[in-house]
Amino acid sequence: MDLEFNNCRCFYLTAIVLSILRTGVAFMSDALKEFLNYTESYKQYGEKVLLKIRHTVRVRDLCIEISDSLGLSGDDTALAAACGLLHDIGRFEQWKQYQTFNDQRSVDHGALGAEVLCADGLIGRFSETDHGTILNAVKYHNRFMLPDALNARDRLFAGIVRDADKIDILRLYVTGGLVCRTKGTAMSDPVLGALSECRAIQRESLNTKADEIAIRLGFVFGLNHRRSFEIVRENDYIGRMIDVQLSETANETLKAQLEALKPRIRRYVDIRSLDRSAAD
Ligand SMILES: [Fe+2]
Repeated sequence: MDLEFNNCRCFYLTAIVLSILRTGVAFMSDALKEFLNYTESYKQYGEKVLLKIRHTVRVRDLCIEISDSLGLSGDDTALAAACGLLHDIGRFEQWKQYQTFNDQRSVDHGALGAEVLCADGLIGRFSETDHGTILNAVKYHNRFMLPDALNARDRLFAGIVRDADKIDILRLYVTGGLVCRTKGTAMSDPVLGALSECRAIQRESLNTKADEIAIRLGFVFGLNHRRSFEIVRENDYIGRMIDVQLSETANETLKAQLEALKPRIRRYVDIRSLDRSAAD
């Protein structure tokens, strides 16, 4: 327990120091301190919660990286970083109240996060002009699509957070932080067809346990920014995630499906990461 606490403390301190070194903007480390203060009382719930804290800090870093690639101002980069830091704020109450991160079995953690920000007064620590943008980024980060009614500025920040979140989730599947258990099944034809047509998969469309892999692979079809595609390509998250699943299944049909999808989805990522006309 002491070791875990010390590791955690070390992680926080490193995150704060890196934040200051990377950005040189005091606001960002203030936001990080606010986040770490908020999560302090939830650390008692153990490794699952610590995993979410680490995920959140990486998402924040990815938000900064994508913002840099877009040439955003220092203030807007700080706002994107804050949106990244707060995007999963609902996860902590979700775990406390339901002991699960499964939204279908508990509550929409994006909507809960927006409620938490208002109820706990956390949103008041940020400039009032940014409240709507932050709340929308948090509320909609986990929706299949952003609402049409969202204005261009809110769409930009929500899009950055959604990209950063998806990239880190792919990383977690590759590094073993998350596992997709297929229970001997193969992907269903409609889901496989959608992936083959480069379409993202909605949770409501799932037919088999193996279709869960399709949701994650389909994340790349919902990415918004060229830098996001570059990060996926540079780390070969698609190839590596497929290799992980290939090593864990004995289902020959699933193996053949994954082998066929690997070059197809990799090629999509390659093209989008080189496409200068796409949204930078
Ligand atoms: Fe989330």
